[in-house]
Parts: sequence; structure tokens; C-alpha cells
Amino acid sequence: TTVEWEAESYDMGGHDTYMHKEIAEQADAVDRVLRGRIDDRFSTVHLGGLNLDAREARGVRRVKILGCGSAYHTGLIGAQLIEELARIPADAEPASEFRYRNAVVDPDTLYIAVSQSGETYDTLAAVQELKRKGARVLGVVNVVGSAIARETDGGVYVHAGPEVCVVSTKCFTNTAVAFALLGLHLGRIRDLSVADGKRIIAGLRKLPAQIAEVLAEEPAIEKLAADYADAKSMMFVGRVRGYPVALEASLKLKEVSYIHAEAYPASELKHGPLALIEPDVPSVAIVPDDDLLEKNRATLEEIKARSGRILAVAHQEQEKADHTIIVPKNEVELDPILMGIPLQLLAYHTALALGRDIDKPRNLAKSVTVE
Ligand code: G6P
Repeated sequence: TTVEWEAESYDMGGHDTYMHKEIAEQADAVDRVLRGRIDDRFSTVHLGGLNLDAREARGVRRVKILGCGSAYHTGLIGAQLIEELARIPADAEPASEFRYRNAVVDPDTLYIAVSQSGETYDTLAAVQELKRKGARVLGVVNVVGSAIARETDGGVYVHAGPEVCVVSTKCFTNTAVAFALLGLHLGRIRDLSVADGKRIIAGLRKLPAQIAEVLAEEPAIEKLAADYADAKSMMFVGRVRGYPVALEASLKLKEVSYIHAEAYPASELKHGPLALIEPDVPSVAIVPDDDLLEKNRATLEEIKARSGRILAVAHQEQEKADHTIIVPKNEVELDPILMGIPLQLLAYHTALALGRDIDKPRNLAKSVTVE
């Protein structure tokens, strides 16, 4: 069962929906999660509430991130950021699965619970079970003083501000940035160089202006949404850093437009889902300028050969795609943060074109606080 969504009285600030308002607020929200945390002297960040000293941070052998829905997807981005920046093996798992599988709780693993509301029952129950077994659990949470914030040993507040729309947008983005901060912090205590620390900090500082650039593409994305709103189903693909972006974009489209969507690692297409590709089933491909660019271009060719329509989200025009949404380039580790944003707008405009109840999709609740 789920709790009923309650209309809250935050001002819509001239937007027709909270979803649109919250998408539009992302440059400011990212500015808030960064504010006061960057330490240029040591090319690192300060995270006041972490409660993990340098010696403890060095002792962490693995990181396991737990969350539900969009929070789980930001956990996947977070695991990659922590693994890349701090070189600690990290992965993410739905909290609801973790709590029911009698997982081995390892004293050298740092557990991290991710939640916008801080009240999701499955995530909270996973935290309580971990605590009971003596694990160290941090929270990456938006709502200050929420149950998960209280029950964890410390953590990072996401500072996205109130999120009212049932589907997460600005909190998703801010949580990914919070994980970049955590990865940088852990990395600089371990083996991340000063030069790489500076490089990531410079990239983080660019994000708010780059988000504003992405949001300025809205009129073009609105037109694209009209083109894709008649899809029977949509396929979202990405490799490595692009895969969690594909998962979240697919979830977003399902939640608000009710169009069926699947997300796959691009490399897995040929192992099954390619059978679904046809003109009525367009694909959205995440194509960053990174070391997998050629592989991703080959995927576009594979899809095109089955006469599938392709929308690419990329750093440069993709010849094989029918349409390309170009996003500004940042450091490769931070690319996923920006690449998801145009697809929030795509989901929003598709839902609008189909006349959906955008802020309160059928059957969903903002926060599922019961089992
Ligand atoms: C619900 C919402 C999702 C959200 C998930 C986790 O299912 O509909 O949008 O991602 O809960 O919520 P949390 O508050 O823990 O991030």
C-alpha cells in the first residue's frame, strides 16, 4: 500500500506544474549543494555531517548504496563516482531487495542509504537492519531531520529544497552532485591527486551554468516530445556512466507519460532487446564524448539497421541519430549529471502532450512510508 499524496501549498512561481518548476530550479539547487563545501586549499570538499574521520575513511573496503526508485538510480551514479574518484569498489542495490535477502553485512563496508523524503519504509527498514547488525550507515537525504537522517550515523544533506511533484527531478540531480562531493572527499583522503581534485572542483563549479544551458533547449525538446508521444514503447540505452541515466530517463517517462519504456546497457541490446526495435519503438541513446564513444556509435548503427528512430543525448551531433540533443561537456565523471536533465524535460513534455496528471501520476505516491 502507499500513502496518499497530499497537495502542499508551495507557490508554483508561475509554472503550470511542480514538475516544471522543480526542473527549472536545478541550477539554483546545485548551487546550494555546493555552497560552503569546497576547500580550494586542499582541493577537496568539507562534509560537516559525515562523522567519518580520515582514518575511518581509509579503512573502508567497499561501499554499498541502498535506495528505492529514483534514489536507487542516483545510487548507481553515486557508486560509479565513488569507485572512479576514491577507487573503492562500490555498488548500489534497491533497498527493498537488500532487506529481504539476508545480505552478508560486512564490517569494512560503508553502507549509504539514499532518500529524498528520508521516510521510505523499505530504505528505513534496511538502515535499521544494518544498524542492528553493527554496520556503519550514512544517509544521503534531502529532508532535514527525517527518519533516515536521524537513524544513520551521519551523512550528506542534498539541499534540493522542497520537492512536491511525485516524480523526482531536482532532488535526483542534487543527489548525484552530493555523491560527486562524497567521492571527491573520500578520494582526496585516499589516492586522488591534487590535480584531479582541482579538475573535479572546476567541473562542479561549471554545473549550474551548464544546467541553465540545457534548460534553454526546452523549446526544441518540446517539439521532439510531440514527435515521440505516439510511441508504443521506448528503449533507453547507455553504457557505464550512461546506463543509470538511461534507467532514470526510462522510469521518468513511464511514471509521468504512462508510455512503456525499457532501459538497457547498450552492450546488452544484441542479447535480446534488439528484437523489440521497429519504427514504433524509438530509442533514446546516451552518447557522451568519452572512451566509449565509438562503441555507442556502433549501437546507433545497430538500431538504425532495424529501422528504429533514434534520439541521442550527446556532446556532439550524432549522424546516425534522427535527432540529437546536445549537452555541454564537463569532466567525464560528471557527465551523467547533465545528461539526464533534457530527458526530464522530454518526459514532462510527452506527458503534457498526452494530457497526463503530471504532478500526481496514477497509482504513485511521493513517499511510500508503509510496507
Ligand atoms: C516513491 C516515489 C519515487 C521515489 C521513491 C523513493 O516510489 O514515487 O519517485 O523515487 O519513492 O523515495 P525517496 O523519498 O526515498 O527518495
